[in-house]
Amino acid sequence: MSFKSFPKVELHTHLEGCAPPAFIRGLAREKKIDIGGIFDADGGYAFRDFDHFLKVYEAACTTLQTPEDFRRLTLAVLEETAANGVIYMETFVSPDFCGGGDLAAWRDYLAAIVDAADEAETKFGITLRGIVTGIRHFGPEACKPAARCAAETKGRFITGYGMAGGEMVGRPGDYAYSFDLAREAGLNLTCHAGEWGGPSMVRETIRDLGVSRIGHGIGAADDHALIDEIMEKDIVLEVCPGSNVVLKAVSGWPSHPIAKLRDAGVKVTVSTDDPPFFHTTMTKEFEMLQRTFGWEEDDFNALNRTAIAAAFCDEDTRERIGRQLEETQ
Ligand code: HPA
Ligand code: ZN
Repeated sequence: MSFKSFPKVELHTHLEGCAPPAFIRGLAREKKIDIGGIFDADGGYAFRDFDHFLKVYEAACTTLQTPEDFRRLTLAVLEETAANGVIYMETFVSPDFCGGGDLAAWRDYLAAIVDAADEAETKFGITLRGIVTGIRHFGPEACKPAARCAAETKGRFITGYGMAGGEMVGRPGDYAYSFDLAREAGLNLTCHAGEWGGPSMVRETIRDLGVSRIGHGIGAADDHALIDEIMEKDIVLEVCPGSNVVLKAVSGWPSHPIAKLRDAGVKVTVSTDDPPFFHTTMTKEFEMLQRTFGWEEDDFNALNRTAIAAAFCDEDTRERIGRQLEETQ
C-alpha cells in the first residue's frame, strides 16, 4: 500500500519543531545569526539526548524573530505536511517564542500564523488548528503568560492549551494555575506526560491538570490500573513513535508500546512531533507501523477516526474532515 496519499489526521506537532533545517539556516543567514553548532555534517539537526534536543530546538527558534518569519514557516510546514496526505493537523504554538509571552506581540504573531494557515487551506487542502503551549522547564510562573495568551485568543484557530518541554521539571500540580485559567476560558487541554515520566507522572497529570488528551503517554503502558483509568476517563494518547525511537524513550520500533496500548483498548493516535528533527513524516510513521506491527488499511482508518473524534476543533470542522475521511475509505 502506498501511504503517501492516504489521508491522515495528526494531533501532536510543534510548529517550530516542524521547521526544516534548511529553512532555519536560511533565516540564520538572512539575519546573520550564528547557530552553526546545531547541525550535523549532512545538514540535519544534531543532538545527543532529550535535554540537548531541547537546547538545539531553542537555538533554532532564535532565528524565528518576527510574525513574517512565522508566516513563512507555517506555509512551508503545511505544504510539506499536506504532501504527506495530512488533511487536518494540530500544532503547538508558544507565546514564549512569539514575542516572549507579551499579549500584544502574541496577537501579531498569531495573526500571521492564521493568515498562512488560511492560505495553506486554500492552496494545499490542509486544515490547521493551534494549541498554545507553556514550556515546562521555563517553570510554572513562565507558563502563566502563555495561558493568558491562550485564554485571550481562544477562537476558531486557538482551541487548546498544553504544556511541552522538560517533563521531569516540577510536578504536574505545580502548573495547575495555568491549566485552570485555560479551562475556565473554555479551552481544551493536553499535556506532555509519560514521554519520560512513569505512571505517577501520567496519573498526576490527569488528576491535577484535568486534561482530555496526553502527549505521548507511553509511560502508562505497564500499569494496568492506570490504563483502566485512562479508558474510563476517555483520555486519548497522542503517540509519536518515531520521536520516541530517535530520542531513545524506547529502545526501538519493535518494543514501542503503541500496539499493546491500542490492543488493551486505549484510544491512541499517531503524530510526528517534530518531523525534521526525527527524520520522519506521517507517511514514514504509517509505513513503520505497518512493517513493525502489521497494521493495515482498516487500522489506519480507525486511527484517523480516533484522531478526528479527539481533535480540538469546532463541530463543523470535525464533521467536514470526518466526511473527507469517509469519502476516501
Ligand atoms: N517533547 C517535549 N517538548 C518538546 C518536544 C518534544 O518532543 N518538542 C518540542 N518541545
Ligand atoms: Zn511533543
